[in-house]
Amino acid sequence: MQIPISKFDAISEQTIQIREPELADGAHMWQIAENSRVLDTNSSYAYLLWCRDFPDTSMVAEIDGEVAGFVIGYTRPAWPNILFVWQVAVDRPHRGHGLGVNMLDALLERTAAQGITQLETTIAPDNPASVAMFAALARRGGAALTRTTLFSADQFPGGHQPEDLYRIAPVTTQEERR
Ligand SMILES: CC(C)(COP(=O)(O)OP(=O)(O)OC[C@H]1O[C@@H](n2cnc3c(N)ncnc32)[C@H](O)[C@@H]1OP(=O)(O)O)[C@@H](O)C(=O)NCCC(=O)NCCS
Repeated sequence: MQIPISKFDAISEQTIQIREPELADGAHMWQIAENSRVLDTNSSYAYLLWCRDFPDTSMVAEIDGEVAGFVIGYTRPAWPNILFVWQVAVDRPHRGHGLGVNMLDALLERTAAQGITQLETTIAPDNPASVAMFAALARRGGAALTRTTLFSADQFPGGHQPEDLYRIAPVTTQEERR
């Protein structure tokens, strides 16, 4: 999916493409997650499997042919109308220009045909950038963003922040918003 360049601000002279991931993107996803120093870096094997098995519910963003960000998600097996977004990351030099929220928007656009009506994600309490990005996505669609507790810190072995569940509903496509 080519995104209109007018949607972005300071990176508008560059070529931006938001598309389904391919196997070759797995290594870049792993590196971006690792560089973020915020995300739990999954194994490189996990990102490769994600590219192989869940490309329909994931996205990568390329700037001038380089992978600059990714979203990985899946539809919940028991609730196929719910898209769970596991990780979103934008490489540091490309942050703050709308790439994160536009990848999510593009993913909602693509998954609309699968009957997705809600988006879920989890966010640790010390991640205001992530909260702001999902709040911006909800605002675009005029949807509610609600927060509940999902996993408390003591459920994680080895020390981990709690993870709050954020839900955006109903999700809408750009077409439906016009
Ligand atoms: C969270 C992240 C993906 C945002 O990507 P991004 O491309 O910089 O975000 P966008 O430019 O699309 O911004 C979307 C909205 O979030 C806001 N936002 C982004 N970063 C922010 C920050 N650090 N502080 C406050 N607001 C922020 C933007 O202002 C924008 O809101 P607006 O439309 O009201 O202006 C990026 O900061 C990142 O990769 N962080 C590390 C990994 C991470 O925490 N992922 C999320 C948890 S899975």
